[in-house]
Amino acid sequence: MKSVFFSRFFILLPWVLIVIIMIDIDSKRTIRAPVAGRTGRTQRTARTAGAPGVGGTHNQSALPIIYAITPTYTRPVQKAELTRLAHAFRQVPRFHWIVVEDSTARTELVARFLARCGVPYTHLHVFTPRRFKRAGMPRATEQRNVALAWLRQHRSRRDTGVVFFADDDNTYSLELFEEMRSTRGVSVWPVGFVGGRAYERPLVSGGKVVGWYTGWRPDRPFATDMAGFAVNLQVILANPRAQFKRRGSQPGMQESDFLKQITKVTELEPKANNCTRVLVWHTRTEKPHLANEPKHRKDTVVIEV
Ligand SMILES: *[C@@H]1O[C@H](CO)[C@@H](O)[C@H](O)[C@H]1NC(C)=O
Ligand SMILES: *[C@@H]1O[C@H](CO)[C@@H](O)[C@H](O)[C@H]1NC(C)=O
Repeated sequence: MKSVFFSRFFILLPWVLIVIIMIDIDSKRTIRAPVAGRTGRTQRTARTAGAPGVGGTHNQSALPIIYAITPTYTRPVQKAELTRLAHAFRQVPRFHWIVVEDSTARTELVARFLARCGVPYTHLHVFTPRRFKRAGMPRATEQRNVALAWLRQHRSRRDTGVVFFADDDNTYSLELFEEMRSTRGVSVWPVGFVGGRAYERPLVSGGKVVGWYTGWRPDRPFATDMAGFAVNLQVILANPRAQFKRRGSQPGMQESDFLKQITKVTELEPKANNCTRVLVWHTRTEKPHLANEPKHRKDTVVIEV
């Protein structure tokens, strides 16, 4: 009796072990799947928490898309500047980066950079004619207009969005994007380090813009910087001829000349706590000192900077 029990036991033992091992493998597999899902969810929650003002917005697909237009050109600090911008932009939900190069073709450097930057983007280019590349001439006019043309071609009345001109020599607070997202027509806010002062800002009274605090040409109808306003996408589409002007526009008057075509000072929407908070700075990266840079390549490898 005992020997029968033992022989049965030893015949069954390997099968029992196999079943136990199979169950173990299977349960590991089923555990791994939810873990991956949870990591994904935590990342997403962290992202939402990191972007101020987004908390509480559960359906992000209902948010208007922010279209940031960045004109850029080849120079030693270009990739460093774009990297700083991308680090801010990739944290902003519902964001689309329109990068316009001043070049006859898309450059390899910018194309490679954008492909890996983690921000949804459109890569455009237009070459500024030589005759406009002089001191005292407004800059990036053609690039901004090409971006506006792209929006008018690729977006329609059904699309909700806000258009913002994000030059690559500024520093952006994440809060700025949540402020501008509710722009119904044209919104404005203070900008740091412009107009020869620590900041420039629209003066607000009773929730309306009544003037401008600026150190430079306060007679400008809209004495604001390129980084100091945003426009609802539908306003851009409803004014198909509005664009940045070369003819008759002096440097520093581009913003005013553009805004005159689409709005009035009394209609401006003050953001950033009635224009009392600085959320963007015209930081400008110092030109690097490259006096010892060899004319011809001396290093043994080609390195992209
Ligand atoms: C989110 O909002 C969009 C647009 O308003 C809507 O189509 C979609 O069904 C909403 N999704 C959820 C999960 O509520
Ligand atoms: C801005 O000012 C208006 C009018 O004084 C006031 O009603 C509104 O609450 C203010 N907005 C903020 C964000 O402080």
